[in-house]
Amino acid sequence: MRAAVIGAAGYAGGELLRLVLQHPEVDECIATSRSQAGVPVSEIHPGLATVTDARFAGLTPGEAAKGRDIVFLALEHGESSRVMGEILDQGPGLVVDLAADFRLQDGQLYAQHYGVHPAPDLVHLFRYALADVIGCDLRGARGLAAPGCFATAAQLALFPLRTLPLATPPSIFAVTGSTGAGVTPRSTTHHPARAHNLFAYGVMSHRHEAEVLEQWRGWIGQGEGGPRLMVHAGPFVRGIALTLHARLGSPDDGSVAQAFRDAYATKPMVRLLDSPPHLTHAIGTNLALISHAVSPDRTEIQVMVAIDNLIKGAGGQAIQALNLALGFPESTGLMTSSPYPS
Ligand SMILES: NC(=O)c1ccc[n+]([C@@H]2O[C@H](COP(=O)([O-])OP(=O)(O)OC[C@H]3O[C@@H](n4cnc5c(N)ncnc54)[C@H](OP(=O)(O)O)[C@@H]3O)[C@@H](O)[C@H]2O)c1
Repeated sequence: MRAAVIGAAGYAGGELLRLVLQHPEVDECIATSRSQAGVPVSEIHPGLATVTDARFAGLTPGEAAKGRDIVFLALEHGESSRVMGEILDQGPGLVVDLAADFRLQDGQLYAQHYGVHPAPDLVHLFRYALADVIGCDLRGARGLAAPGCFATAAQLALFPLRTLPLATPPSIFAVTGSTGAGVTPRSTTHHPARAHNLFAYGVMSHRHEAEVLEQWRGWIGQGEGGPRLMVHAGPFVRGIALTLHARLGSPDDGSVAQAFRDAYATKPMVRLLDSPPHLTHAIGTNLALISHAVSPDRTEIQVMVAIDNLIKGAGGQAIQALNLALGFPESTGLMTSSPYPS
């Protein structure tokens, strides 16, 4: 297959490009960047020195999409909406967007969290691509909206809970590393502000909450309410560590453990653990590491998740969804080993 990665000089685009270049079904890939056009890819992404000697192309998104079987976009928010028309005009077989532009089908939820949608007529062309949950139902999709990084970790914690009686909506506490904020340094993301620090942001309205709410409401068949996502910036480079807490409506009779087994026992890219996952064990992989615990009186549940925000939370999940959409084995190109300790 012939692929293009648009916005390949960013953090998510770089990790995506690493995986695309090593995917066995991809014969050729071009990587575009406005700011790095003509620069060797390995100068911006040193880890790719062993797999490519190509340079970033300064093509427009439409030019990059011409003759491509797959087009990935890893652009800053709003850019995908702006350029999607010229990409679709080229008729690529599959478009995978890593941004938030096409994740929400509910226009009201979108407006509440992001404002006016710049390309509302294109939203219906995209399937929300939470790969570990939706699985083979993604087969045949022509447009995939890869979930956000916090949203991925949160929904993987939530999904087994949809069948359980809950007394209150779950509360979710999560911490991300600095790559979650992208390649451009800001006052809250550069090293002195992050290295020995931890702080909450997006309080009571983090944008990823919108997609979590949309999916949760669909799973439980209710139009309102849902989990609260409390996100934090942590003093590490990559990864998301998340803990969910919920009260059960009736004491657990073994249904909780069964719900986790039912949700994930056959999923190749989820590992159910007996003890809380470590972030460093997820880094560099497309795995979601998940454990859960029930309180001694069996009325409370806690779920712990660790993922790599740039792989499971971005490029890796995008490839997993592509595999499912095109009928390849789900983990194709994603079972590489990673360095440890990282
Ligand atoms: N970081 C994460 O953990 C993460 C996880 C999941 C999803 N995402 C999503 O992935 C997207 C990228 O995030 P990021 O963290 O990688 O941001 P980033 O590091 O700031 O990279 C964004 C890239 O987009 C490029 N770009 C923007 N407009 C372009 C255009 N019209 N044509 C070509 N390239 C363009 C920019 O590169 P040039 O200026 O060189 O073109 C930049 O390198 C965002 O929508 C984000 O929400 C990120």
